[in-house]
Amino acid sequence: MQQNLFDPKSAPSADAPSALKDRLDRLKAEIRRHDYLYYVKDRPEISDSDYDQLFRELLEIEQAHPELVTPDSPTQRVGAPPLDELGKVSHEQPMLSLDSLITPQEVLAFDQRIKRELRLDQVDYVAEPKFDGLSVELVYERGLFVRGSTRGDGMVGEDVTVNLRTIRSVPLSLLADSHPPVHLAVRGEVYMRRDDFHALNRRMAERGDETFANPRNAASGSLRQLDSRITAERPLVMTCYEVMAMTGALPPSHWEELEALAAWGFPIPTLRRLCQTIEDVMAFHHETEQLRDELPYEIDGIVVKVNLREFQNRLGMKSRSPRWAMAYKFAPRKEITKIHKIIVSVGRTGTLTPLALLNPVEVGGVTISRATLHNADEVARKDVRDGDTVKVERAGDVIPAIAERVPIPGELRAAPFTMPDHCPVCGSTVAREGAYYYCTGHATCPAQLKGALEHFASKAAMNIEGLGKKTVAQLVDRGLVRDLADLYDLKREHILKLDGFADRSATLLLEAIERSKHVPLDRFLYALGIRQVGRHIASLLAKEFGSLQAIMQADTARLQAIKEIGPEISASLVSYFQEPSNRRVLDRLLQAGILIEQTALPQKKAAHPLAGKNFVFTGGLETLSREDASSLVEQLGGTVSSTVSAKTSFVVVGANPGSKLAQAKKLGIPLLTEQEFLKLVEHPPSSY
Ligand code: IVH
Repeated sequence: MQQNLFDPKSAPSADAPSALKDRLDRLKAEIRRHDYLYYVKDRPEISDSDYDQLFRELLEIEQAHPELVTPDSPTQRVGAPPLDELGKVSHEQPMLSLDSLITPQEVLAFDQRIKRELRLDQVDYVAEPKFDGLSVELVYERGLFVRGSTRGDGMVGEDVTVNLRTIRSVPLSLLADSHPPVHLAVRGEVYMRRDDFHALNRRMAERGDETFANPRNAASGSLRQLDSRITAERPLVMTCYEVMAMTGALPPSHWEELEALAAWGFPIPTLRRLCQTIEDVMAFHHETEQLRDELPYEIDGIVVKVNLREFQNRLGMKSRSPRWAMAYKFAPRKEITKIHKIIVSVGRTGTLTPLALLNPVEVGGVTISRATLHNADEVARKDVRDGDTVKVERAGDVIPAIAERVPIPGELRAAPFTMPDHCPVCGSTVAREGAYYYCTGHATCPAQLKGALEHFASKAAMNIEGLGKKTVAQLVDRGLVRDLADLYDLKREHILKLDGFADRSATLLLEAIERSKHVPLDRFLYALGIRQVGRHIASLLAKEFGSLQAIMQADTARLQAIKEIGPEISASLVSYFQEPSNRRVLDRLLQAGILIEQTALPQKKAAHPLAGKNFVFTGGLETLSREDASSLVEQLGGTVSSTVSAKTSFVVVGANPGSKLAQAKKLGIPLLTEQEFLKLVEHPPSSY
């Protein structure tokens, strides 16, 4: 008989003992509940390490009994081997889009039309955020997730089932006690939180990969991957907001539909409001817009839906959108203004960045007078010049950027922008690397020196409190500090000369400088401000090499042997440490008394013969506690399980053993007394 993986009631295997299956089911239910509490409810009940322990136990049982692995197991969220292409899925109901309204007048007109057509004086609406991600359909059969697809053209989308499985807030199975429908299709939005998006972009930039323009592109690029193992590493989240189809009667209102979704285990919008009047809707729109910058994710408006299904059905739909719902967008975060002048700023690593100085303009409540143009290629691609009219964009907390040029018929334009040959700050020659231009002045360039010092002193680096932008600028401008090492030669009389310093603040700064001399390797490495070496790469290097000397001696081949280090990072490291002026500064820093804490390298001891062996304990031990016994095994490289399986190497039997003893006997697993166990640990026979 072919096994039906989607039917939890079908017997997966005849030979697995039922106690084991019970344990497996309980573990899965327990992990699922904690996933739900953590990812959907945002209210975890156990520590990460307790969770890891449950997860490890489940993995061990499944590894020993692959025939017991079901597609809804929490272990099945890791992604699957890459596909050649994403398959196509026809949606059983068209996935409609929404009409967008922008002005309060349009919204009032919408309300009047609804009331007129329903011949009513009052209609309830549900208002919820309009998430800025990508819309997907999830299909469940008998409570199990079987298929997921993107919206595509509304009729046919892409099959992203394996990718969706990796998203922790997507339930792989629905809460059984809630009696989910036999067949259920749900719609929702997959998106990325803003902080996760920034962290992802930082990781990608550190690795030399191309970054994403905004969280929506990042979510879409991450979900529509042929290799779902990549999706599994991306921090995607999902919120559900519609039942598209189900067996049985649909809930009578949208509000109850959301509640049903929540009861089945889906994440639903936490911000939502049942509105009795269109004024309530307006208020929700206003309040949500005020909250917009504080929300951890991007939204671009609210969605307003007629609450009662009966009314929705009476109102019907147009070809592509329902007549009972609409998107009430927020004021655009793009505005039009003029570029006064394009200038070039010099960053701490010497990168020249074109910056547009703008005629000040208010974008989404904030006045903007400058915007980054990233690099020369981007200026060329957007073809922006001094005096041009442009659209300025502010997306969440991202620095304002020029979205595009607005051509004005008949305008007389300035000459195209070109990068300078010489650094606008120090006059050194400018070198080019791909799309990027650099000032070659290094620490002789005051702009680079200031940036390098600010970075060196920052919290995540040397953490020198009191050494901020203003102080750094004065130290450099007055010639008191010419490189990083000069900081440690600063005397009280130098500091007292600076604006804003008196006796006490000078003492505090000197103390902070002194304290910074004790520093862990990863922070020191990060503090040096080597191009491409952010915090993550710095900590990787520290863990891999343990000492600064070892990193300085590594060549590009050795560096690239590390998983996340590619040609760009390794070239940047090698050239940094080859540069004589950098070596001089490093020597002087060490002479000044900087003490770098070496990072402990993972011990590569000769393996104990018990390494890799799996132990199960049953019954009470006399001389050892269970914890001590387990940690003994783990120290020797073995593992401890709570269940006996074919993979178990030994079962250690104490007083009043449980059912594990019988299980071990049945499987013919070697048994040990506590004394035998201790002997084995101390003097393992060489045959093990
Ligand atoms: S309801 C029939 N609710 O906005 C109702 N859509 O064009 C269809 N969206 O493609 C959608 N948040 O991806 C709905 N709370 C929400 C939403 C939402 C975001 C997206 C959806 C759709 C687009 C509207």
